[in-house]
Amino acid sequence: MRTLRTQVGIVGAGPAGLLLSHLLHLQGIDSVVLENRSREYVEQRVRAGVLEDATVKLFRETGLADRLDREALVHEGIELRFDGTGHRIPLTELTGRSIWIYGQQEVVKDLIAARLGAGGEILFEADVATEGIDASACAIRFAHGGDDLVLACDFIAGCDGFHGATREALPAGVLRAYHHEYPFAWLGILAAVAPSTDELIYASHDRGFALHSLRSPEISRLYLQVTPDEDVERWPDDRIWEELRLRLSDDTGWTLREGPVLEKGIALMRSYVAEPMQHGRVFLAGDAAHIVPATGAKGLNLAVHDVRVLAAALGDHYRDGDDDGLETYTERCLQRVWRVQEFSSSMSSMLHRLPDDDGGFGRRLQLARLRYTVSSETAARSLADNYVGLPHEVTNEGSLP
Ligand code: FAD
Ligand code: PHB
Repeated sequence: MRTLRTQVGIVGAGPAGLLLSHLLHLQGIDSVVLENRSREYVEQRVRAGVLEDATVKLFRETGLADRLDREALVHEGIELRFDGTGHRIPLTELTGRSIWIYGQQEVVKDLIAARLGAGGEILFEADVATEGIDASACAIRFAHGGDDLVLACDFIAGCDGFHGATREALPAGVLRAYHHEYPFAWLGILAAVAPSTDELIYASHDRGFALHSLRSPEISRLYLQVTPDEDVERWPDDRIWEELRLRLSDDTGWTLREGPVLEKGIALMRSYVAEPMQHGRVFLAGDAAHIVPATGAKGLNLAVHDVRVLAAALGDHYRDGDDDGLETYTERCLQRVWRVQEFSSSMSSMLHRLPDDDGGFGRRLQLARLRYTVSSETAARSLADNYVGLPHEVTNEGSLP
């Protein structure tokens, strides 16, 4: 069995793993990224679309934003639509910050290009099993191109998503998991049609939640609330468009443009947090450590914050022998994780149809909250502040270039 050596062994080439590798490289720290899927697969996987202000700033500061600055759409507001009426939340006017629309697969493409362009090592189709991760010896056994290999490292970063191997490889009893399943899921489509709106529309309708998002001036991204056990086969394109028309309808005669459906899938809504996010020399980041329901558009952005904190802490370790940042990694990430968890959960409960709403009491409370949110500047500012994302508090920022 051949042994490779690096300083930080990273499992997973999603946004978390790739960005960590990039931020380490900028500080002169070596890493190898092991990804079990192919490059084509990770570059095509359709997921998030909304980048927070702090995420974009970090991408700019670290040389990742050339294409983003040309192609991303900056948005200064969102719409909450209920009772047939749309209400704009002016994000930028209320907070001074904006959001950017840029597909996660574009972020992943940019990160892969940056790493490979700088001579970075990403091994695609590297099969890492839970049994292959030796947390105490800090080594990762994996199969690649027909060979059995070992990656020996100083630290392991588990950036392998919610279903990854790293978290499972930690000794039993080390982590405590906080978990909540929501009684709804999202049926998402990507459609080859110009968006029917300039800004995202979050619609709370008696038939269920709907979201109109977009990817570009030619591509729309739309979601419908469905039950968690829904079968995508029961949703031919015509039925999806009809339901979207009903849930997104308003009293101004606004119409929904329809077009060919390019992609269709169901995503469950769950909250999950593993505490602590580290054990010995193994650190978890992004979806490997926590999941938030997609209503707040936060998962990718949270992953970016985790790896920023981790990269700065590893920088302090290698440069100054200072391990304070590594020791307090969990504490510093969890503050934001729980803030975002609360925001995403409260957005979800404000907007979705509640399946167990006996007699409509819950719906009345939702409408009272929605009306307050769109009529009180204080309430609107609180939503806007969380939606555009709180600034990153990276105290040892000096470590990052
Ligand atoms: P992932 O992207 O899951 O990457 C993990 C990587 O590890 C993958 O490439 C996987 O193939 C690899 N891997 C897994 N197991 C192994 C293994 N054993 N060995 C090697 N590699 C492995 N977030 C937002 O911020 N804004 C949004 O608008 C938004 N919208 C969303 C909409 C939907 C429908 C969904 C499903 C999610 C959305 N999210 C959003 C969440 C966001 O997509 C995730 O939070 C983000 O992908 C997390 O990045 P990550 O790198 O931690 O994990
Ligand atoms: C998306 O465009 O995919 C998207 C937008 C907003 C969300 C979730 C997903 O809250």
